[in-house]
Amino acid sequence: MIGKAGHTRDGIKIHQDVDFDGMRKAGAVTARILDEIAEHVFPGQTTGEIDRIITEKVAEYGTTSATIGYKGYEHASCISVNHVVCHGIPGDKKLKDGDILNIDVTVILDGWFGDSSRMYVAGKLSRKAERLIQITHDALMKGIEAVKPGNTFGDIGHAIQTFAEGHRMSVVRDFCGHGLGQVFHAPPNVLHYGRPGTGPMLEEGMFFTIEPMINLGRPETKVLADDWTAVTRDKSLSAQFEHSIGVTRNGADIFTLSPTGKFHPTYE
Ligand code: MF3
Ligand code: CO
Ligand code: CO
Repeated sequence: MIGKAGHTRDGIKIHQDVDFDGMRKAGAVTARILDEIAEHVFPGQTTGEIDRIITEKVAEYGTTSATIGYKGYEHASCISVNHVVCHGIPGDKKLKDGDILNIDVTVILDGWFGDSSRMYVAGKLSRKAERLIQITHDALMKGIEAVKPGNTFGDIGHAIQTFAEGHRMSVVRDFCGHGLGQVFHAPPNVLHYGRPGTGPMLEEGMFFTIEPMINLGRPETKVLADDWTAVTRDKSLSAQFEHSIGVTRNGADIFTLSPTGKFHPTYE
């Protein structure tokens, strides 16, 4: 048993053992949907059709979409193609051979939010896109490895930043991870860059996402006129992976792990 009900630290909610069960169930549905959507990604497919299939699965598995109706957003997923950094809106544009895309899904099950995203490819993956996807995936995992009580959020950001920049890629500053649980977005902002030992201390029972966006070019982004779609200013390729996790006694519980080990790569 950890903490007492309603306990927070630095404004971050400290959850109980039973809450981990709720997050595991919600996260498992998100992961299953992301596993099953892989076969629907191919050249000629539209992102709107991918989102329609996700919408169907969200209902089929007894969950509701956290994004439909969120700040006016109307879709069950964000689908971000090539130089789109995040919050790409599904539509009737067809995927082309070699396009890379992030699919981001958040479901609600029994009041708990499961938020995760992965990279996919339509057709044949280029060498440079493959490298970007591999480094981005590994950067997320380096961040998760820094999660344990006594470390700080700055340690997570530092692990991600040093890894990505060590491979001459850049970390997006304009978007970050977030606390979650029985709400979609809660404190703290989880930065994907930073200095060791800075920021709030990690404590058992904290739930949050880590979701680094890594660019082949410069880190700057801009949001298009639709008020959602964020793109790289220099039009360079961008990739992202996201897990929802909980801090345990000695590490992290990853709530959105793929049941079939498909989190990465999804294109084999
Ligand atoms: N799932 C996104 C995240 O990781 C948020 C999407 S909000 C939406 O936080 F409205 F754009 F769907
Ligand atoms: Co998120
Ligand atoms: Co997300």
